[in-house]
Amino acid sequence: MPRNHFKRRLIIFLVGTALLVLSLVLVSLSQSSLKAYIIERMLNYRMSPEAAEASFNNVLNLVYIILWMALAIVLIRAINSLIFGLVFRLRKGYEAPNLVRNTFSIVAYIIIFVILFKQFYPKVELGALFTTSAIFGVIIGLALQDTLGNLFAGISLQADKPFQVGDVITVGKWTGVVESVTWRGIKLRTFQNHVVLISNSSAGKEAIEVCPRENLNARIVFFNTLYTDSPAKTIHIVREAVREADNVSQKIRPIVRIRDFGDSSVDFEVKYWLEDYTKFNDTDALVRQRIWYAFRRAGINFAFPTRTVQIERISKADGRRADGSEFIDRLNAVDIFAPLSAEETARLAKNSVRRVFAPGESVIRAGDEGSSMFVVHEGRVSVQISDNGKPRTVSVLNEGDFFGEMALFTGEPRTASVVAIEETEVLEIGFQAMKHLFDTNPDLVESLSHTITERRAELKARSEDVQESEDEAEGLLSVIKRFFGIS
Ligand code: CMP
Repeated sequence: MPRNHFKRRLIIFLVGTALLVLSLVLVSLSQSSLKAYIIERMLNYRMSPEAAEASFNNVLNLVYIILWMALAIVLIRAINSLIFGLVFRLRKGYEAPNLVRNTFSIVAYIIIFVILFKQFYPKVELGALFTTSAIFGVIIGLALQDTLGNLFAGISLQADKPFQVGDVITVGKWTGVVESVTWRGIKLRTFQNHVVLISNSSAGKEAIEVCPRENLNARIVFFNTLYTDSPAKTIHIVREAVREADNVSQKIRPIVRIRDFGDSSVDFEVKYWLEDYTKFNDTDALVRQRIWYAFRRAGINFAFPTRTVQIERISKADGRRADGSEFIDRLNAVDIFAPLSAEETARLAKNSVRRVFAPGESVIRAGDEGSSMFVVHEGRVSVQISDNGKPRTVSVLNEGDFFGEMALFTGEPRTASVVAIEETEVLEIGFQAMKHLFDTNPDLVESLSHTITERRAELKARSEDVQESEDEAEGLLSVIKRFFGIS
């Protein structure tokens, strides 16, 4: 509860209590003079003194009951806030549901009313008044049929405690986050940000699916591939693509499996667990996007209905080797490749493989083995190191920049992770293609070793984890030469 709200309530409570106590005192003090005055007035209307006194007493008792009842309401509300608001929040971390609070208040009001009534009208039998009045019973029964139904269904829901505020539930056709449970019904906020009120009695008749907030809830997304694609490769690629997506829990590894052999496709499902289940729509969508990109890179195909005839000469950006001519300009713009002849650049372009990455995907993971380097063709990537378990960016590389050369030229594990900032296309250049260039361009080794030395120095300055490597003492140049078998 906000501070100001709490303050206002406290002031209302104090003022209300003071006014009620004051009224009670005033009524008690002025009781005898009031009585004399009113009885005298009544006698003017030819009433007998006994009848006048009895009427006065009845009215006075009613006034007392109303005042005491008002005082009781104020006090019960205060106790209610204290126990079910403050104490619950301190001990359990959340306020008690409205249903519990209202039930407590109603029971307390009834008890106090009965006590007061008995006190002021000891001769009147309250029980008999209710039980003997058949008409009263029928009226109450009809009028409160739904209300009582809701109340009792609500009480049994609360006793069971199948869900809490903040859980995602599905009741009938409605799915949403529980906002409150009152004596009347359940308030849900749907994923279209609408509020749905479901009465307790109808919720009591339906099956309710509950996805508790504290639970690792799973989702299943379906996809398919052609029969010609390898299931083992598909399963590996999808699992890796999904486990890195935001909001997918790292505690349990996603499960990818074949659901069915369809008419024109192998049907798969991927099951993964969510950190925050209220965002399952966004996460499902992200998972589908990641699968699409991963398929593109790995050359796996979604199945088309077999009646569709696909005629395609070259698949663009699908990770397969094209003739490479469109990469020549890009490679010419990379400073370390400037000394290459036109023929060498053309061969390098032909031997490069284009790969596409979704925003947030890793191109390289620190610590992995690596036998290729990359040139950013389109997009941007960030070079990240781990700082107390959290990723820290050391550099952002743009179109025309290269990375991944350290592991390729020294044989050591990857020194950093490289993550796509936006959709990024890179050209991957393998060991053999570079070896060929080194044979004819010994200067290339030198300019590369300069870049590697500079980048290592920067990494070392940014992170204490990066140790001085043996290579530096020995001379990076000779390490690269030895690694590539250059004399
Ligand atoms: P490699 O170690 O193979 O894999 C991670 C890559 O990140 C690394 O090669 C470099 O290409 C790149 N890298 C590391 N440090 C830096 C840096 N300081 N600036 C730019 N790129 C870097």
